[in-house]
Amino acid sequence: MPYDIYVTKASLPPMEEYIEEVRSVWDTHWLTNMGEKHEQLQNMLKDYLDVDNIELLVNGHMALEMTLQAMNLQGEVITTPFTFASTTHAIVRNNLEPVFCDIDEQTYTMDVSKIESLITERTCAILPVHVYGNICNTEEIDRIAHKYGLKVVYDAAHAFGETYKGKSVGLYGDASCFSFHATKVYNTIEGGAVCYRREELGQKLYELKNFGIHGPEDVNAVGANAKMNEFCAAMGICNLRHVDEEITKRKTLYEHYMERLKDTAGLQLNEIQSHVRSNYAYFPVVFDETIFGVSRNEVYDYLAEAGIYTRKYFYPLTNTFACFENKYNVDDTPVARKVANRVLTLPLYSDLDVRDVDRICNLLLQCRFDKK
Ligand SMILES: Cc1ncc(COP(=O)(O)O)c(C=O)c1O
Repeated sequence: MPYDIYVTKASLPPMEEYIEEVRSVWDTHWLTNMGEKHEQLQNMLKDYLDVDNIELLVNGHMALEMTLQAMNLQGEVITTPFTFASTTHAIVRNNLEPVFCDIDEQTYTMDVSKIESLITERTCAILPVHVYGNICNTEEIDRIAHKYGLKVVYDAAHAFGETYKGKSVGLYGDASCFSFHATKVYNTIEGGAVCYRREELGQKLYELKNFGIHGPEDVNAVGANAKMNEFCAAMGICNLRHVDEEITKRKTLYEHYMERLKDTAGLQLNEIQSHVRSNYAYFPVVFDETIFGVSRNEVYDYLAEAGIYTRKYFYPLTNTFACFENKYNVDDTPVARKVANRVLTLPLYSDLDVRDVDRICNLLLQCRFDKK
């Protein structure tokens, strides 16, 4: 492997625990299609996330895509370009048009003061992202959605297990879509879920994830195959037993990074928001080259040479992707552009050693003096 330390490392339960968990799958030969593990995990997550309704899916992307499909939307969706490809692709793949709203420079989530000016008669929904686990301004988004009769779907891929003012993040908007990808705080290898408000949406999602099959001889929607299989659900059951402990370890590392970097001029660190129980998913740093002396790209290269893989996350902005050439104007989202050009997420995962955090910080600070 070319790097000593990657930006993340997938969490795994002890192997024996997983083997014990999948033993019954061998007994039943029921490998997928909403089997026992799927049902068990769904119930466990409903409790853990403290939500009323949840539907498991094959991944976080299909959670977004199928939620938009289930809502039967048409027209424009206000969203953010400072996100992973999935958010924008879920909109476009539903034949909807993304309208990009700029972001807030502190939380990196949608700048809610800019939403209303983007609303037209064709707007049908708002799709904000809880970036790095920073919770969007849900109160203001709710207010706007209510005023204009818009649906709200949160991309909560980064926000597993978080609460805002004591309320589960899965209870905001009409639906919240989670990712359980291997690189996330909580994983089912690949997986995702939708927490939703109205029961009809759950029924639709249940059918859409299974080709739109309503009954043995009745297919009433053009669905896809987006079911979570039993092996992924079993991994989810095991990982859920350990996730609190993992978040506690992440918190210690996060605080250590903060302590080491907080007094350095030219670095913007990500403060945990008040009223938020955080999952410490990422450690983003925004570099101001004019003060820090070194650019984000130089830090990235310097750390890479030392065997440390960081990530320019999110860069590039989705509204600059080659597949959307000339469709969107990046000048409409100047703050997002500025952050995307300056941000780097540093390695953070539960079994990262605190001495590695020190090493990463030492290198990051040293690179100012080694600049050629
Ligand atoms: C913000 C965001 N949205 C959506 C996704 C898609 O999730 P998945 O990889 O589980 O399909 C991811 C992660 O990969 C993400 O980071």
